[in-house]
Amino acid sequence: MSALNTERVIEVRHWNETLFSFRTTRSPGLRFENGQFVMIGVEVEGRPLLRAYSIASANHEEHLEFFSIKVQDGKLTSRLQHLAPGAEVFVGRKPTGTLLLDDLKPGRHLYLLGTGTGLAPFMSLVKDPAAYERFEKIVVMHGVRQVSELAYRDFFERDLPDDEIFGPLAREKLVYYPLVTREEHRNRMRITEALESGRFAADTGLPKLDPANDRVMVCGSPAMLRDMQALLDGRGFTVSPHVGAAGDYVIERAFVER
Ligand code: A2P
Repeated sequence: MSALNTERVIEVRHWNETLFSFRTTRSPGLRFENGQFVMIGVEVEGRPLLRAYSIASANHEEHLEFFSIKVQDGKLTSRLQHLAPGAEVFVGRKPTGTLLLDDLKPGRHLYLLGTGTGLAPFMSLVKDPAAYERFEKIVVMHGVRQVSELAYRDFFERDLPDDEIFGPLAREKLVYYPLVTREEHRNRMRITEALESGRFAADTGLPKLDPANDRVMVCGSPAMLRDMQALLDGRGFTVSPHVGAAGDYVIERAFVER
């Protein structure tokens, strides 16, 4: 049996010249946990060319969604970015990954910290009812270089608060905090700076990060993961050592080498 399903593209959205997202059909047999990633790809010279992608849709949704950069000479993304509705893509049958709610100890505030396309797994998690059951606040910090890279901003600022099912929960619990480092923006700083300087706490009224109350998921570049990990470890947070073992935080590398 093949390890891949063949799905069809339903919709493509270009956020700017470097970012796009797309939706595909979802084979009924594909089960996953919110926050997981899966191999996806297209056929190139008669063979599947695959890369890992976080699933940006929630596991209760009918479609699959993926959020990607466009690399002009990237093997896969140079092709993926030209997908149109109706095109076929391969989707692996074995989703996996570490950004799991079950691997976090109970806590009061859930921090979802992503840079660039590292936001993708959190798009899935903010539509997980369990996240709202387990936490009093869910903080989404999305750090990017330019304003145009704040993909899904309208989803957080408008669609989610208006959503029939998640609206009331999101309005009560969700804090969306975008950050832009290389252009004018009210939060012109890195996620690490916002947390370290106390600026985020001052802006939102939330207490400073503390392992007694806070749980964290991190998804970004290797440098961002390293610095975030140092920050968290320095404050006494312990990382989940492996899937199935709970910690104060979990991390995953955003998949960008395309
Ligand atoms: P900066 O512009 O200061 O490098 P990238 O596209 O390189 O992954 O960056 C996405 C966002 O993550 C940018 O805002 C970038 O800030 C920020 N970033 C890069 N490295 C780190 C890091 N080590 N810690 C926190 N944020 C980082």
